[in-house]
Amino acid sequence: MKKNIQLILAAACFSTLFVACNHASSTKTGSDKDSTTAQAPQIPDSANFKATVQGKQVDLYTLKNKNGVTVAITNFGGRLVSLLVPNKDGKLTDVILGHDGLSGYQIKAETYFGAIIGRYGNRIGKGKFNLDGKSYQVDLNDKVNTLHGGFNGFYKQVFDAKKIGDQQLELTYVSKDGEGGYPGNLTAKITYTLTDDNALKIEYSATTDKATIVNLTNHAYFNLNGAGTPTITNDSLRIDADNITPVDSTLIPTGKYEKVKGTPFDFTSLKTIGADIDKTDDQLKNGKGYDHNFVLNKHDISQSIATVKSPETGIVMDIYTTEPGLQFYSGNFLTGLSDGKGKATYAHRSALCLETQHFPDSPNEPSFPSTVLKPGETYHTTTIYKFSVK
Ligand code: BGC
Repeated sequence: MKKNIQLILAAACFSTLFVACNHASSTKTGSDKDSTTAQAPQIPDSANFKATVQGKQVDLYTLKNKNGVTVAITNFGGRLVSLLVPNKDGKLTDVILGHDGLSGYQIKAETYFGAIIGRYGNRIGKGKFNLDGKSYQVDLNDKVNTLHGGFNGFYKQVFDAKKIGDQQLELTYVSKDGEGGYPGNLTAKITYTLTDDNALKIEYSATTDKATIVNLTNHAYFNLNGAGTPTITNDSLRIDADNITPVDSTLIPTGKYEKVKGTPFDFTSLKTIGADIDKTDDQLKNGKGYDHNFVLNKHDISQSIATVKSPETGIVMDIYTTEPGLQFYSGNFLTGLSDGKGKATYAHRSALCLETQHFPDSPNEPSFPSTVLKPGETYHTTTIYKFSVK
């Protein structure tokens, strides 16, 4: 018995030393903190996510492929918490902003970190729309407009989770008729699949029992230099779009298309994100930087519609989608949150979002592709984020 206790004490001491050691190497600062040479990033402790919310069990799920690429997802908001991909030195970099535990995601100042966005991605002007002769008013959670599904959008809901093998997670949520003001009982299913070619595939599907509108997306904040590093403005970006849908000062589309050629919005070939971001331009002024829907030239999933490259880690991300639009948001409203993973501070423009979607305010713009879903139809879209190194 005494021997057992001694053994337990020795093991406890050893693990304390090990944790202390690990901690010391992961809190390097200044010049020795290099995204390619620093201690391998860890995914947060799943114990920090275990809780009962709205009567449902919240947890953290991990997917891993044969190359060590690791994705951590919580069923609270269906959020991507970490995404560890190889950098040019063959080590792993965490390219997604997030928090170390559930409480970080339950704050008032919502950032939508990594979340599944529903029922409607981005804004609907004044939160109003008409459908089959009836008018609907949804939550006004973004001054005069609705944003990302309202006050209790999917980003705050607990999904039922089913892990399938080591590389797939299926999340289901039933949004009740009238939730947030939207009509119809909507059953939404999101499947995350990590493939062995280092791609994260997200499939969204939904059905309804009453005519409704749907526009699902994911709100991951990417920083390919590593989450917590200061800026994405030195990364380069390509978006296969000849037009954007310009917006008014409340970020609602004017209904027109605007050519990107000759403007700061021309990303038709790789360009540094910071090259034009501070230029004098009405659209950049409205978005306080890039915060716009790009009208994709092609969206048949077979070709990459956008590429991001990090000069520091050599990580390249390619995006493939079936969606007609891509919201490029340059992290303009990040204000230096200091409760990031591993106590990281997430500064202004230290991440970007590339949200594949239908266009903002489509229910009020008949010329935009329709977001209406009727009973008997199945909404189905797919987006792939694929990682490689250059
Ligand atoms: C929107 C931004 C908004 C951000 C919230 C983006 O999808 O386009 O305007 O501030 O989400 O984090």
